[in-house]
Amino acid sequence: MIGHEWLVVCLALAAVAACAAAAGSPSPRLTRLFDDGWRFHRGDVDQGWEADLDDAAWRRVDLPHDWSIEDLPATGEEPLPAIPVTEGEWRFAPGDDPAWREPSLDDFGWQVVQLPASWEAHSGYTEDNVYGWYRRRIDVPGDLRGREVILSVGKVDDVDETFVNGVKVGGLGEFPPGYQSAWDKPRRYRVPAGLLHGDGADLIAVRVFDGTGNGGLYATAPASIRSGPFDSEAVGGGAVGFTVGGVGWYRKVFTLPETMRGKQVTITFDGVYMDSQVWINGRKLGEHPYGYTAFSFDLTPHLRFGSLSNVIAVRVDASGKTSRWYPGSGIYRHVTLTVTDPVHVAQWGVSVTTPEVTAERATARAECRIANDRTQDAQVRVQWSVVGPEGSAVASAAAAGSVPGGGGIDLSADLSVPGPRLWSPDSPALYDLVTTVSTNGTPVDEVRTEFGIRTISVDAANGFLLNGKPIELRGGCVHHDNGPLGACAYDRAEERRVELLKASGFNAIRTAHNPPSSAFLDACDRVGMLVMDEAFDCWRQGKNPEDYHRFFDAWWKRDIESMVLRDRNHPSIVCWSIGNEIVEQGTPEGATAGAELAGYARSLDPTRPVAQAAHPGTDPWENMDTLFGELGLCGYNYKWEKYVPDHKSEPSRVIAGTESFPAQCFNSWMATADNSWVIGDFVWTSFDYLGEVALGHTHYEGEAPHYGSWPWTAANCGDIDICGFKRPQSYYRDAVWGTGREVSCFVRTPLPEGETGEVVYGWGWPNVQASWTWPVMDGRPLTVDVYSSCPQVRLTLNGRDLGTRETTRATRFTATYEVPYEPGELVAVGLDTSANEVARWALRTAGHPAAVRLTPDRATIKADGQDLCFVTVEILDSRGALNPMADDLVRLALTGPGTIVAVANSNPRSVESFQQPQRKAWRGKCLVVIRAATHPGTVSLTAEGEGLRPATCEVSAGG
Ligand code: GAL
Repeated sequence: MIGHEWLVVCLALAAVAACAAAAGSPSPRLTRLFDDGWRFHRGDVDQGWEADLDDAAWRRVDLPHDWSIEDLPATGEEPLPAIPVTEGEWRFAPGDDPAWREPSLDDFGWQVVQLPASWEAHSGYTEDNVYGWYRRRIDVPGDLRGREVILSVGKVDDVDETFVNGVKVGGLGEFPPGYQSAWDKPRRYRVPAGLLHGDGADLIAVRVFDGTGNGGLYATAPASIRSGPFDSEAVGGGAVGFTVGGVGWYRKVFTLPETMRGKQVTITFDGVYMDSQVWINGRKLGEHPYGYTAFSFDLTPHLRFGSLSNVIAVRVDASGKTSRWYPGSGIYRHVTLTVTDPVHVAQWGVSVTTPEVTAERATARAECRIANDRTQDAQVRVQWSVVGPEGSAVASAAAAGSVPGGGGIDLSADLSVPGPRLWSPDSPALYDLVTTVSTNGTPVDEVRTEFGIRTISVDAANGFLLNGKPIELRGGCVHHDNGPLGACAYDRAEERRVELLKASGFNAIRTAHNPPSSAFLDACDRVGMLVMDEAFDCWRQGKNPEDYHRFFDAWWKRDIESMVLRDRNHPSIVCWSIGNEIVEQGTPEGATAGAELAGYARSLDPTRPVAQAAHPGTDPWENMDTLFGELGLCGYNYKWEKYVPDHKSEPSRVIAGTESFPAQCFNSWMATADNSWVIGDFVWTSFDYLGEVALGHTHYEGEAPHYGSWPWTAANCGDIDICGFKRPQSYYRDAVWGTGREVSCFVRTPLPEGETGEVVYGWGWPNVQASWTWPVMDGRPLTVDVYSSCPQVRLTLNGRDLGTRETTRATRFTATYEVPYEPGELVAVGLDTSANEVARWALRTAGHPAAVRLTPDRATIKADGQDLCFVTVEILDSRGALNPMADDLVRLALTGPGTIVAVANSNPRSVESFQQPQRKAWRGKCLVVIRAATHPGTVSLTAEGEGLRPATCEVSAGG
């Protein structure tokens, strides 16, 4: 079945081919996005690869696509019926014996206990680090006999394994030696059909381990909740933000004109999460397990031309516990189709480096792999030219050789570029290397490679030098997701993240813990951002049951290759990282593996240092010495106290703080700035992310930590939140770095009645707000923190001077005031040493919500089906000031050539949909993301809310 959309693909490809021919360019390399017009099915499909499978009922999607961010399907995934077993009479025995799971065991002599209750309460069992078992027999309700059901066991403090009739059905937490509590997680386990006999004597046995504090089966499980993309019972739990993975299928039908017969046709996936398998016309092309590296397949031998259609089918398997953060699911980055001559530049076959750079001249070393997919040898000539930032050719060179049939050769040349414009974050000048391959005098392939002219070096005495000048890496770690867009790597979303980070003073990013999209790196090149490109979060030992360790041995080399070869021409990348907090890093086996990985990365690219980010809990820390000895850059996670002592014992070691706590921003930065051998600091994280939920929350003393718990969905540790709004810690960082805002002022949220203190995790920040609207606090004191890079600040309230205070390194760039609340205007003024005003920051008391304001980030976007406009929605009072307490529901309507592709607010514990055309404001704001259609016009967005004056904004979508 060839639908209209497939014909369009065909025509587009044919048109490009025709244009190339008409322009007299015989170089037939065509590369186009292969993103539109896929069919998608959420769930597994029997023989979904079959060429003639009827997929008409599948949903049509354009890429990038991430099904885990979409609202959970309302139908077709009905929750399984649950059998609650917590409440009632159980038998209990302290101790541990594997035989206690057996249904045949005689437990008549065991203590009879009434649950739920902790074992301290029901048995006076108070020891720490002990085991105990619970057993009971249940009667399965008649209508559930023989069916697959959920066994709702309740909450277990700390770790359990649960058995039904002797068969393990689940368990949460980790028993010793890798002990990990799951005390607050409800145990709801899937019991396969047939395991429960329904004879009134089905045996449930629960093995429990308790660390410290209470133990036992102490509470019933709350009802499971599904809302938007979130499921309180998602297999991956809070680690993946309670989103749901599973299996999905994609199919795309396309035709190719007869003129393409004899060409080489390659499909490239920039990233599919995860464990994908790909077929064309029913024939399997291969698989690619890792969810973050790019891969390609040669389609040539399987293609049909003319009126016959081709079908690409992709099965994606993101089942189980695959990740410690939100990974998303599906084909979430671009797919491209490339058509070349059989004699062509190989995939990622161009490398360009700049080994010599002076003010007068730079050497651009071009290397190129030519592949010959013909059977006969081919004589080739390669012509290189360098095109400068202004668009004209500035250097050229050529080389020739013979490429054996079915083989390849490498050719290289040095090009001399006069008066080079050097690439740096301040001046990200980009050049193009154009590689043209000819056979018999006829160009057969041409590849344009963007690059930058720059030098880098690292050593303990000078630190990191870019173009010979020292530069400290003001760094932040980022995961790959785009908040409400999920993992979808739209070019504009990737670019916006980089722009926002740069605007907040960052000059470096660590791509935790995997290679990012090509679009992200392109943006770093253009915007001017230094990058540590990281390969893995685990090697042979996983951190989750379905982690990458399952594939490591068979795939690590190919994945390192994919990272280094795809990314090596990006001037933004200044370092490779082979891994993060690798479980085996401090062992001899870990050191050997690390040396192998680092060596391999260096063999592919000798121009950049290779790092690994070490776990701070490595005990003893000196166990890292062997692996660190193999690396050009040693990554210290949360270990700034070790910078000075380690330098004493290892004076040549070059260190980067590869992760640091936001709450320790001052210490970790000072330890970086003071020591030449520490080249930078990367906060965890600079951009907030979904998953690892509530990592950065603050809570009250005595309250249970929220980490990992429903309904939190974001980590809440980023300097910038998932909407892209700057958070208080980012303003503090401005003060510490002396970049960005020179003064800012925040008010600590008063503790509720009866609460005594606030607990700030290292990844968190005190619960402060940029607000002077505290109606219930009249006359009562509020604590005000002023952050400033000025030497001193003055605070005034309604014009009254509240005093001038020092804000230097000695005061950690902070001045704190106690201010009795009265409505009005609180102003912090940054002063120089002579008390002249340098900058100011005002907070005004807001009135009731009265109106909506819409602010698009750009007035014009491209009508290419991919471009995005991010619109900030604010709730204002009648005088036009933001009301920082407003949480009104905002309803949205859009007309014109675009769609609302996502909505969001910054509330880290919202489980609202990211897709519906409405969103509650949080602290007065929310966000709407518009995606352009493929035809030009005016996109108009209207936002309204109960009792609020509506607002409309227009965005022009152009050609
Ligand atoms: C680090 C880890 C990060 C993140 C962070 C916060 O140890 O490398 O990936 O998990 O802790 O939990």
